Amino acid sequence: MDGNGRWANQKGKPRAAGHQAGFRNTRDIVEACGRRQIEALTLFAFSSENWRRPEKEVGLLMDLFLRALKSEVGKLNENKVQIQFIGERSAFSEKLQNEMVRAEELTNKNQGLKLAIAVNYGGRWDIVNATKLIAEQVKLGKLQPRDITADTFSNYISLASLPEPDLFIRTGGEKRISNYLLWHLAYTELYFSDVLWPGFDESELDKALAFFGGRERRYGRTGDQVAGKNA
Ligand code: IPE
Ligand code: MG
Repeated sequence: MDGNGRWANQKGKPRAAGHQAGFRNTRDIVEACGRRQIEALTLFAFSSENWRRPEKEVGLLMDLFLRALKSEVGKLNENKVQIQFIGERSAFSEKLQNEMVRAEELTNKNQGLKLAIAVNYGGRWDIVNATKLIAEQVKLGKLQPRDITADTFSNYISLASLPEPDLFIRTGGEKRISNYLLWHLAYTELYFSDVLWPGFDESELDKALAFFGGRERRYGRTGDQVAGKNA
């Protein structure tokens, strides 16, 4: 979700207003995904690199995050959304960490949209973290190095309970992954939009979904094989 700051700039508003508008848009897009019966949505809300921003902006984002958790979780729960957070959450205030646990516990059994929110998340961190967990298992003698496969990794990496992402959307014009779900994106269709996040509305979401609908997913095979010819 990129482009909050530029959106505010274009309107002659402070960056804070951009983040506020970005938050409102996030709420709308989560609802729109629910209506479209999308199984899972992962939002990159705060990267492990975002701490490098001016202290004031980081503080503001934390405030917004806390307020959003307090105000939105009840409604999300009513809408049967199942919430989980991914990332190194120990860096956040105790208050925020408690709200995250509360949201996860409250919505744990919900059967609607599976919403994952990446906070203090980095794709490399995720891979390193999975490696540490796997190494622990090896040390305990529960796993042999020769038995480590890509599937083993998929079990120890974030979002292990979700299907691999079909579609990646980055708004705001940059064509980069920026240390997002590096492991998970191996076969994901990548969609880049120039629209700044606060302006990425339902019609833009539908454009992204139409793009996805037009892709042929070959997973290394030929087009003919996928079409069932010469398979
Ligand atoms: C994305 O918008 C929001 C967060 C990273 C929290 P930006 O704040 O990166 O907006 P730009 O890139 O400066 O426009
Ligand atoms: Mg940005």
